[in-house]
Amino acid sequence: MNDSKERYGGITRLFHWGMGLLIVWQFLKFFDRINDGEHWVGQNLVSWHISIGSVLLVLIVLRILWAATQRNNRPEQDPATALLVKAGHGLLYLAMLLLPVTGVMIMIGNGFGWAPFGMEIVAGDGPEIGWMATLGSMHSLLAWSLLILVIGHVGIALLHHFVKKDGVLRRML
Ligand code: HEM
Ligand code: HEM
Repeated sequence: MNDSKERYGGITRLFHWGMGLLIVWQFLKFFDRINDGEHWVGQNLVSWHISIGSVLLVLIVLRILWAATQRNNRPEQDPATALLVKAGHGLLYLAMLLLPVTGVMIMIGNGFGWAPFGMEIVAGDGPEIGWMATLGSMHSLLAWSLLILVIGHVGIALLHHFVKKDGVLRRML
């Protein structure tokens, strides 16, 4: 269950791959730019955006708490690039936290309310809250940033596996 110096444990791997899948699902929201989302992906997958995003908000809080308990217990990084790896993973965490936070801010700030899976947390006829809507408008920029970070992250993981052949990918599998 716990991480070790040799590999990431079951809980870390469940967070990593489970959230990875849900985040890829959330990226499908970009397809709303095509024909205003009037297509199969938009109508069947993107319609879950707020519900899945709200799940991701809970998961990232739990994942940060979990990572804190494991921080002295994780695989070692190559000292030559350890700082860079730390910064890169830190940015991934920051974007994973700020995306759902700004998503909720779009909804509440514009008075749309917040009702994941039909459970009303904030009613839909609320007042507009200017500062909240403004901060929420960072959501799209953050989504593009996370997309670029993830593409870089996956590229580096594949480089480790197929070029350096150093077992870095295997310790997350
Ligand atoms: C990790 C979680 C999330 C990811 C990765 C994500 C990703 C995205 C992406 C890729 C877009 C399209 C942006 C564009 O076309 O420029 C988007 C738009 C949007 N998202 Fe999210 N989202 C997340 C969580 C949430 C949550 C929790 C909510 C609301 C509770 C939300 C509400 C919205 C709304 C209302 C839009 C359309 C408005 C806009 O484009 O600015 N998102 N999101
Ligand atoms: C949305 C997609 C993804 C996100 C947000 C993400 C995020 C992260 C984060 C934050 C870490 C640091 C460990 C942790 O705290 O969990 C990590 C580690 C790792 N990820 Fe991802 N990841 C994603 C997808 C992928 C994919 C598709 C691959 C493989 C092709 C991958 C391969 C790895 C590997 C090998 C590590 C371990 C690196 C090390 O030993 O330090 N990730 N990932």
